Amino acid sequence: MIRLTIIADNTSRRPSLRTEHGFACWIEAGGHKVLFDTGAGQALRANATALGVRLEEAEVIMLSHGHYDHTGGLAEAWTTPDKTPLYLHAGALAARYRVSGGTVKEISMPRPVRELVAQHMGGVRFTNQPTEIAPGVWLTGFVPRHHHEEVAESEPFFLDPSGQQPDHLVDDQASYLVTDNGVIVLLGCAHAGVINTLDYIGTLTGNAPLRAVIGGMHLHAASPAKLAWTVARLQERKPALVAAGHCTGQPAMDALAAAFGNRYRSTGAGVVFEFADENQNQKEK
Ligand SMILES: [Fe+2]
Ligand SMILES: [Fe+2]
Repeated sequence: MIRLTIIADNTSRRPSLRTEHGFACWIEAGGHKVLFDTGAGQALRANATALGVRLEEAEVIMLSHGHYDHTGGLAEAWTTPDKTPLYLHAGALAARYRVSGGTVKEISMPRPVRELVAQHMGGVRFTNQPTEIAPGVWLTGFVPRHHHEEVAESEPFFLDPSGQQPDHLVDDQASYLVTDNGVIVLLGCAHAGVINTLDYIGTLTGNAPLRAVIGGMHLHAASPAKLAWTVARLQERKPALVAAGHCTGQPAMDALAAAFGNRYRSTGAGVVFEFADENQNQKEK
């Protein structure tokens, strides 16, 4: 059994859970417990407690990228850095900004979190390449962007507050869980592009069937043409389940719901996805 529990998200299915602009997911796979992203920091601990998730049981923590809304809760979860490795792309530690309409917003990993990471570099594992972080649980590392149109619409993301150096989000990566029945993909924000990410995972897994694509798809600012392109490409890849949340945006979620019908669900804090798979433990002894 694989169980994915959304701990932090922009929305919630239960009034008692906190919401925030952020994403965090608890992975239970083959007896292993892994935390994927940590939200912005206001929801992780409280929601984990409410959901019966014991963050201290995480064997591994992985970060999809360095934005504050995926890393802000790290201090709440990474309480034993000497025992619990932290996986991230080296680029996640960069300072970065959203510069738009004359306003500058720092959107980096929060400074205290960066300091925490810097203090415990012995527990940090950089993932520039595909990496199996627990049996059957992988991180992509850098995602090649072959579909340039997916990332061509420039976001106002920069590596400097003056807005001179574009931030290409080289640190963006996804997690994928390999099972005998296909691949379960977990997206943070998919800044590298949903289709680029799925295609890369396809090359890494021999084009295994997509059991699920779950998480943030960063389509909130997508043009109608880009949205239509993305939905059409996603349909071609025939995922058995599409579950979008966090930064996907309502128009994109509506389009995905229309395209995928009963194969679509929205995410949200407290949502649990379960995948039966008797063979998941095959690689474990
Ligand atoms: Fe995000
Ligand atoms: Fe992001």
